[in-house]
Amino acid sequence: TIAELISWEALDSRGRPTVAVRVVLSGGVSANACVPSGASTGSHEALELRDGGGRYGGRGVRTAVNNVRVALADAVVGLDVADRDAVDLALRAADTSPGFAKLGANAILAVSVASARAAAAAAGTSLARHIRGDGPLPIPMPMVNILSGGAHAGGLIDIQDLLVIPTASSSFAEAIEWAAAVREATADLARHCAFREAVLVADEGGLGLALDSNREALELLVDGIVHAGFTPGEDVHIALDVAATEFYRDGAYDLATEGRRLGSAELVDEVRAWCSDFPVVSVEDVVAEDDWDGWIRATEALGASVDLVGDDLFVTDVDRLKRGIETGAANSVLVKVNQNGTLMGAREVLRLAHDNGYRTVVSARSGETEDAWLVDLAVGWGAGQIKVGSTHRSERVAKWNRLLELEATEDTAFAGPWPDGRPTR
Ligand code: PGA
Ligand code: ZN
Repeated sequence: TIAELISWEALDSRGRPTVAVRVVLSGGVSANACVPSGASTGSHEALELRDGGGRYGGRGVRTAVNNVRVALADAVVGLDVADRDAVDLALRAADTSPGFAKLGANAILAVSVASARAAAAAAGTSLARHIRGDGPLPIPMPMVNILSGGAHAGGLIDIQDLLVIPTASSSFAEAIEWAAAVREATADLARHCAFREAVLVADEGGLGLALDSNREALELLVDGIVHAGFTPGEDVHIALDVAATEFYRDGAYDLATEGRRLGSAELVDEVRAWCSDFPVVSVEDVVAEDDWDGWIRATEALGASVDLVGDDLFVTDVDRLKRGIETGAANSVLVKVNQNGTLMGAREVLRLAHDNGYRTVVSARSGETEDAWLVDLAVGWGAGQIKVGSTHRSERVAKWNRLLELEATEDTAFAGPWPDGRPTR
C-alpha cells in the first residue's frame, strides 16, 4: 500500500520545470517518475498545469507539485498498488474536470507512473514484465528522427520530423545501429553541402538545417540512407510527422519555407506526391487537429499504402479515436501518455486502436527527461512502433538504451523485419 508521496520540481531537456514524484510503499519499496512536455501540443490535450508569474518564464510547476503533496496524496495514500487500476481510478476521481485542468495532468501522470513502477518493484520485476506478464516481451520497431523542422527546429523547414524506419532489420540492436549510421551519413552530407554554415541539433536530437523546400529535405534523407550503405525503400523506409496543426492559419496551410499557402485538399495532394516520389510509409498529422474532412480525404487517398498517424488529431483520447474509427479518419494512433494523464487512460486508447485494426506508435515528447518509463509501457502494452527522437541527446538515447537492455537481458521478440516495408499487424 502507498504510504507517502514525495514530489519536487525537476528540469526537462529544454531546461523547463517538470514534475517529479516518489511513491513510497508501506514496506519501504519506493519508485520515482518524471513527466515530459510537448512543444507542438494539440489543443485537445490534457492540461499541463504551470504556475505563471516570473519564475522560469511562468513555466514553474510548484502548484502541480503541491497538488501531488496534498490533494493527490489524500486520494491515493492507503491504496494497494498491486490492484492495477485502483490508483488511476482514484486519481480520476480526485480531478473530474476535463483534461485534469484542476490539479494538472502533469501532477496526475507522475503519480500514475511512479505507482505502477512501485508495484513492479514490489513484485520484484521490471515495469515491462509486470504489465506484460509471461512470454516474450514484444520489442517495437523504432522510428528514428534524422531531420527536424517546425516547432522543434526554429521552423527551418515546415515538416516537423523526417524519420527512418529500419524496416529490414531483424533485431532492435540492428535497427538502432542502422538508424545511427543514417544520421551520421546525413549529417556528413549536410556539412559538405555548399552554403550550409550551421547544422544544428534540434529538440529531439535530429539535424536542424536551413533548406529551401520540404522536398529538398526528403531528397537529403534519401541520399543519407544511400550514403550509409542502405537501399531506400528496401532496407530502410521513411516516416514523416508533418505536424500540420502548427502551420494551419485562417483556414489554410502555410508552407513558409516554400512561400506557398495550400488548402486542405492541396496539402493532401502534396503529401501524396511525396509518398509516391520517396519511400514514405508513415505520415503523422498530415492535416490539422480539427480538419476532420481533410483527414478522411487523406485516409481515402493514402490509407491503403501508408500509415496515417493521428497525434494532435486523437491526443490519446478515447472519444476522439472513436470518432476517427467511425468516420474513417487515419489508420494509426500516436500514444503519448501525458496527452491523456493516466496509464489506464492511455492503455484504453491503445486497446481500442488494436481492436479496430489501427496501428499504434508509442511516443515521447519534444521536452523529455532521462527517465525511460515510456519504453516499459510500449513493450508491456505491445505497441508496434516507438518514436522517441534521434540517436543524439541523452534524454533520447536513454530510451534506446532501455530497449537495448531489455533485448540483451530478457526473453524478447522484435517487431521486424517488416515483409514489404509495412508492419504485419
Ligand atoms: P511535441 O512533438 O512533443 O512537441 O508535441 C512530438 C510530436 O509532434 O510527435
Ligand atoms: Zn506529432
